Amino acid sequence: MIELKNITKKFYRGTPAEITALDSVSLTVPDGEMLAIVGTSGSGKSTLLNIIGCLDIPDSGEYMLDGEPITGLKQNRLAELRSQKLGFVLQEFGLMLDRSIFHNLTYPLIFNGSVSTKDYREKIAKALEAVGLSSRVNSKCSQLSGGQKQRVAIARALINEPSILLADEPTGALDSKTSAEIMELFKSLNEQGRTVIIVTHDMSIARQCGRVIEISDGRIIR
Ligand SMILES: Nc1ncnc2c1ncn2[C@@H]1O[C@H](COP(=O)(O)OP(=O)(O)OP(=O)(O)O)[C@@H](O)[C@H]1O
Ligand SMILES: [Mg+2]
Repeated sequence: MIELKNITKKFYRGTPAEITALDSVSLTVPDGEMLAIVGTSGSGKSTLLNIIGCLDIPDSGEYMLDGEPITGLKQNRLAELRSQKLGFVLQEFGLMLDRSIFHNLTYPLIFNGSVSTKDYREKIAKALEAVGLSSRVNSKCSQLSGGQKQRVAIARALINEPSILLADEPTGALDSKTSAEIMELFKSLNEQGRTVIIVTHDMSIARQCGRVIEISDGRIIR
């Protein structure tokens, strides 16, 4: 379970000199929920997702993940949490395009110290099966369609079997038919018990989630 209490995050670079990206945000996400976060550009959606994903730390407030206080943890424990509990999917996929699917999927395994190299092949096969790309394990990522690239990115997020999947505009670079397929995949991953949190501009995507929250100027307004 994700529990955020009065989370505030400010950025100090740029113009204006100080930006309050999140302003005392409180949010509880129970295990197994499918949640959408919507809001205009600059409202704080990615900042919120990055804090939930332990990629960024808030200036103040409390974050408890499965009962463990996250605020104040050392970088190495945060990295461990990220690799074991959390899977990230981004709009631009973030793949190494000149490398094979297999190569892309080994990275999160290498960074997860608890996985033995002899298990890589099996874990990669399992993740690719979950996204329907089993036959393409040796394909170079640059040769895949947008939807296939996003499936590889989802497989990469799944590979360490996280209980929480976080996706920042996962359909932002896809046409509407491919977006619908990717949403079906997220729904089935949620039905298997994973918590899924999706940031999106698109209300037709958000409506497919169990709950929608709207952020404006760093606050949850709805
Ligand atoms: N690293 C940073 N340095 C300075 N300001 C930042 C940084 N990251 C975010 N911000 C600012 O914080 C605010 C919230 O940004 P955030 O990226 O969370 O918005 P968003 O809702 O995800 O927007 P978009 O829909 O365009 O992706 C914005 O005003 C942004 O300029
Ligand atoms: Mg964003």
